[in-house]
Amino acid sequence: MQTRSDVPTGVNDVVRGAVEDAIWAPSVHNTQPWRFGVRGSRISLRADPDRRLDVADPQGREMLVGCGAALYNLRLALRARGYEPVIRLLPDPDRPHLLADVYVEAAGEEVDAETLHDHAQIRRRRSHRGGFRPEPVPEGVRNALRYEARCEGADLVQAVDAHVKGALAALTDAAEHVQQRVPSYATEIARWAPSPKTARQDGVQQASYPTRTPRTEPHFPARDFARGQGWGVEPADDHDDVLAGIVMLLVTPEDTPEAWIRAGEALERVLLRAAEHDLAAAFHTQALEVPELRAFIQKHFCGDAYPQMLLRIGVPDREALSTVRRPVEDVLTEEP
Ligand SMILES: Cc1cc2nc3c(=O)[nH]c(=O)nc-3n(C[C@H](O)[C@H](O)[C@H](O)COP(=O)(O)O)c2cc1C
Repeated sequence: MQTRSDVPTGVNDVVRGAVEDAIWAPSVHNTQPWRFGVRGSRISLRADPDRRLDVADPQGREMLVGCGAALYNLRLALRARGYEPVIRLLPDPDRPHLLADVYVEAAGEEVDAETLHDHAQIRRRRSHRGGFRPEPVPEGVRNALRYEARCEGADLVQAVDAHVKGALAALTDAAEHVQQRVPSYATEIARWAPSPKTARQDGVQQASYPTRTPRTEPHFPARDFARGQGWGVEPADDHDDVLAGIVMLLVTPEDTPEAWIRAGEALERVLLRAAEHDLAAAFHTQALEVPELRAFIQKHFCGDAYPQMLLRIGVPDREALSTVRRPVEDVLTEEP
């Protein structure tokens, strides 16, 4: 594609297409907590607090991680269309839900093949809920993932030590136990895990998770989206040798709204690079939603940094499952 010297204004094909790509970002419970407003050549990204998890995420940290991932997709999608996004994060302290203003400018250079290749991963990426095949993730790829996180001011810390890996699995188990038994958490999960009859285009739906996940050593429990109803898709053919994969914490030097947005940008960047290598990530953020457990993880496993995501990465044990998104019209408006 050639360099574009014309700058799009208003909601036209370029902007609509870029926002359509942006919304394929991951978000906690597929809440899709974002809105995009277009005025002239500026696209504003806002958090949608009605979609925040009041119980699990009262500060809106995970909400901003998801919005940050959508922001990274938007940046990449504009660059792949031949434009240069110029970003102002949190431009107005009096409007904390205004997360970023993205000014779409003409790019000085032609779109390179790497940008197009990265962009092509946006719709290939899926959250994995299961185990991983024994093929290792080569050191070069692990370094590349870490590099991507660092480019956005975050870092990826791998739990190499078996005890650390085991401790993170145990903390996930403890958090899952709490979340299933405390009614407010359980009600919130139920709100975002609709029944198979649903017409909704958000939430974690039964086509996105297996009825059973294989046990790995150590075992990281999955969220209980089915809530005992037997929902979900048939599990993958049992592989005896399914593994937990490499366990990573995505960490940031600060724990502020800006750091959470940047964590989301870093997360998506890592996930797209992983997808390019046919790797997938499984998320286990239950322990990061229980303040005492998050503080424990921060103190013992993150050095001076703050944990934003806990993920397992590897070659998935099955084909990618499906997911849903709301139509772009629901989240994109032209501003007067
Ligand atoms: C901040 C954050 C936390 C998440 N935590 C979990 C989790 O604990 N368990 C899980 O299965 N998926 C988790 N996810 C993945 C979402 O459920 C997933 O992104 C969403 O359902 C959309 O599906 P997709 O990623 O396949 O497009 C998380 C995603 C984000 C951004």
